[in-house]
Amino acid sequence: MNTDIAVLNSCFGIDDQVVFKTISEHFSIVEIDNAHASASISLQGAHLMSWVPKGGEPVIWMSQEASFESGKPIRGGIPVCWPWFGDHSANSSLPAHGFARTALWEVIQTEALKDDTTLIAFRLIQEGGNHDGWPYSAELEIHFIIGDSLKIDLVTRNTGKSAITVGDALHTYFAVSDVRNITINGLDGCPYLDKVDGSEQKKQQVGDVQFDQETDRIYLESTEDCVIDDPGLKRRIRISKLNSESTIVWNPWIEKSERMGDLGKDGYLNMVCVESANAADDVVLIAPGEKHHLWVRYSVE
Ligand code: BG6
Repeated sequence: MNTDIAVLNSCFGIDDQVVFKTISEHFSIVEIDNAHASASISLQGAHLMSWVPKGGEPVIWMSQEASFESGKPIRGGIPVCWPWFGDHSANSSLPAHGFARTALWEVIQTEALKDDTTLIAFRLIQEGGNHDGWPYSAELEIHFIIGDSLKIDLVTRNTGKSAITVGDALHTYFAVSDVRNITINGLDGCPYLDKVDGSEQKKQQVGDVQFDQETDRIYLESTEDCVIDDPGLKRRIRISKLNSESTIVWNPWIEKSERMGDLGKDGYLNMVCVESANAADDVVLIAPGEKHHLWVRYSVE
């Protein structure tokens, strides 16, 4: 895999639109700028770090205390959770949310599209046996289309000889004016596992999700659009998705933020994670040679 910035710019750079650069030792990103939006993505984790529609506010939150170091998860942006969500089912000493978010991905395509949006795609090849806890073969690709909406397609192809089980999530940190004043709709009637209450199964009554304490829920049977209504920023962020049965809603609130140490001062007030996923029992079974697409579109209304 070529990670040399000059080579990446000569193979995949697009004048004034797609530029690769190094921001710290062994840590490279790509910056995208077009008529509709700007964005940046780190090669580690194929991790989208920012997306700002032209003339608008940042839609994606990044912690002021985030560290950009090789092998360390980044606090904020869009971590890719794969091939499991949360703790590994059999061995909790393995990295939470899998290994894709800290692996170095290969750039495979960039393209200025006709509607002035930008496509950028990355690949991660997993050969059987080179990761504890997941001794299978698969090819993972992620395709971003950066425009006034953000479209992401996370594609898992089973390249092995037996069926594989995958949990995946786009663990998106959305920027909000004040989490205490926002609502999330689209989850009416969904069962959920309440991770702050021993993962007990509960049911969302009809009505919006609001925040006044630590919230960590895996909503099941959740396939509808979710909308984050943010009166403070006078905007609604719409989250549409395909092939995702679960939605995780997470805000660590005060004590957990302090324990985590990388959310920044009062950072929890300005973020909420709404994660399009296949998690818990909603994991996906993929037959040899078959693919699974987890697709999302984020737009601002
Ligand atoms: C969420 C989980 O998806 O991610 C939370 O539901 C977890 O339980 C959070 O705390 C952050 O995880 P991490 O591994 O990035 O600290």
